[in-house]
Amino acid sequence: MNNHWSEYWKQGHITSFGDAFKMNYQGEIKALWQHFSRSLDEHSKVLDIGTGNGAVIELIQAVSQHECVGIDLARINDEVTKNIKGHFISHVSAEKMPFKNAEFDTVISQFALEYSDVDLSLNEIYRVLKSKGKIHLVCHHESSIIVKPNRKILESGLAVKENVLTDLKALVNELINNKSSNLYKEKIEQFISSFQSLEKVSLEATNFPAFYQFITENKNVDFEQAYKLFESELELLLLRLNELKQAAENTEKLLHKIRNTQYYSEVVVTDLRDSSNGLIAVVISAEKCSGVLN
Ligand SMILES: C[S@@+](CC[C@H](N)C(=O)[O-])C[C@H]1O[C@@H](n2cnc3c(N)ncnc32)[C@H](O)[C@@H]1O
Repeated sequence: MNNHWSEYWKQGHITSFGDAFKMNYQGEIKALWQHFSRSLDEHSKVLDIGTGNGAVIELIQAVSQHECVGIDLARINDEVTKNIKGHFISHVSAEKMPFKNAEFDTVISQFALEYSDVDLSLNEIYRVLKSKGKIHLVCHHESSIIVKPNRKILESGLAVKENVLTDLKALVNELINNKSSNLYKEKIEQFISSFQSLEKVSLEATNFPAFYQFITENKNVDFEQAYKLFESELELLLLRLNELKQAAENTEKLLHKIRNTQYYSEVVVTDLRDSSNGLIAVVISAEKCSGVLN
């Protein structure tokens, strides 16, 4: 994973959904974490893996006071987390954590643990949990209302990269040299019109149609610079969406490992759904069985 999450958190977002949640998660996600917080003994020691800018810790602390630690492989933005009650540590991976054995009452994670190497991270979680400690994980699912549309955007983005980027670059070169033969425009327009209804929405999310319109309708543009920016943003989008797709696939492995080792008991898996019954995530909770590793 490159450092794109560090760049993202630096922008000051509180959640991983950008401007969709300006203050913090709302609705079902907020209710889930606040219910969970109330279920803990007061002043429990809680570890949040892949905490980002601490959204989940903030939700938890709003209803009941605990001793929270948030870690992330990326750089956490202190300007955001200084207002949240917790201890935040950047550049710590779930696979190797700087904590003593049996330090935490509970380990939580939202849309993060499934990005890790779960063979290693689950061993680490087991190590840092107290006997009978709890895990509570909110994980991406391949058919959730978050992952499914993003998989479509990924497919459209890959189609742009593989089928039409060379034509776009050739068109940009013509525009730089004040020429326009229509050959590349026709190819690109054909590509865009081959996308129908719902697929069109995914294509638009890659920004390709808007970029094409921008360069063909404006004259005083630094075309080379604009193209470079578009290309690097497309690469970043593909990287992020590919990671999301793989993380969602990894949830199955995570669940399989929790269910099929002797490390955990009381394994409960539930669907987190929105008011229209759309699947938001799967929630995995379990209790540490003592004395298996040490
Ligand atoms: C989708 S964001 C979720 C952030 C936060 N939990 C939330 O719900 O808003 C995923 C986070 O997991 C972090 N992450 C990915 N792999 C990790 C790993 N192996 N160890 C620790 N953190 C990791 C990323 O840096 C990123 O900040």
